[in-house]
Amino acid sequence: MIRFWGPRILFLGFGNVGRRVVEILADPAKYPRIEDLGDYLVVGIVTRSHGATLNPRGLDLKRVLEEWNREGRFRGEVDAATAIRETNHNLVVEMTPLDIPGRGAEAIRHIRLALEDGSDVITCNKGPVAWAWHELRELAYDKGRGIVCETTVMDGVPVFNLVQRSLKGNRILKLEGILNSTTNYVLGEMEKGVSLEEAVAGAQRLGVAEADPTYDLEGWDAAVKVAALANVLFRPGAELRPEKVERDSLRSVTPERIREAAARGARLKVVCETWRESYHQVTGRVKIREIPLTDPFALVSGTSSILRVTTDIAGKIVITEEDPDLSTTAYGVISDLFRLREGF
Ligand SMILES: NC(=O)c1ccc[n+]([C@@H]2O[C@H](COP(=O)([O-])OP(=O)(O)OC[C@H]3O[C@@H](n4cnc5c(N)ncnc54)[C@H](OP(=O)(O)O)[C@@H]3O)[C@@H](O)[C@H]2O)c1
Repeated sequence: MIRFWGPRILFLGFGNVGRRVVEILADPAKYPRIEDLGDYLVVGIVTRSHGATLNPRGLDLKRVLEEWNREGRFRGEVDAATAIRETNHNLVVEMTPLDIPGRGAEAIRHIRLALEDGSDVITCNKGPVAWAWHELRELAYDKGRGIVCETTVMDGVPVFNLVQRSLKGNRILKLEGILNSTTNYVLGEMEKGVSLEEAVAGAQRLGVAEADPTYDLEGWDAAVKVAALANVLFRPGAELRPEKVERDSLRSVTPERIREAAARGARLKVVCETWRESYHQVTGRVKIREIPLTDPFALVSGTSSILRVTTDIAGKIVITEEDPDLSTTAYGVISDLFRLREGF
């Protein structure tokens, strides 16, 4: 059933993802099915240090992109919390960066404020899903609002939609996947004889790895995804924090170990796993595993990713994402817009 729909959208963040979302929304001639969203207004876009642009009557997105491309910033100045409090919106899209040391605190504050204010929320930021999902979902429930997060794991691939909508009636027994591009790319390069350091530098040149790759190499980014999957998809809900997810470090992988795996007809992969140990206990881990070449996980290279969902009735379902780009990620936000439109 289509719910009342007339969103007044406030974007928090205008980086890689935010810009691509706006480019898609601004070009219905190229993406004609976007019109199925119906009427909506983008009433504001806020960044941290590149200004803000607000218009209660709705921004002209083509002009927004022109201003950005010309000036490299917006002229207005307002911070996210003030914009949430003071603009008339009913949907906030949280697209600020993942903050692992701060356990997502700032993004969690944005979402709390938005929900208290009576807005629906889309978050691309994994932090709030990994560290505060149950609190935020309960707040959303109390306020009669929705909170959705399709972009947080496997970009725009419908992971949460698949499990929550298409696999209804199943109990989810286990989720396992290759979900971190940096480590998957680096392992692929090491198989070709490249050292860990050179492979990381190559990933940085391609824009796959961050300037500081520690959170990827030490499994933190993957642990945050494991927590997000467990918190959202297990029922009754898990409250798995990234700190409780056991992690292997990629720095422990040597060329010998890669060669030994190859000799046994296998590839090393960083596998994210979470499963229900008992009614009250959900376990998560990020493990470097030898994957036989006959397993679909062995076929996933570079920035591609894969998730296997084990259910009690429908058995095992595998979904892959091949060579994602920013449009794949931006589609996560677009699909969440449709999901909110259709009820959550
Ligand atoms: N890139 C991907 O492919 C991808 C895939 C899946 C999920 N995600 C997630 O999506 C989110 C956005 O990613 P991205 O690649 O677009 O990041 P990004 O390029 O670093 O952009 C982040 C944006 O957030 C703004 N920002 C930071 N702190 C803010 C604050 N307190 N208030 C308002 N704006 C703030 C930044 O403004 P300034 O530039 O002025 O600091 C910038 O506009 C992240 O959480 C990321 O993990 C990204």
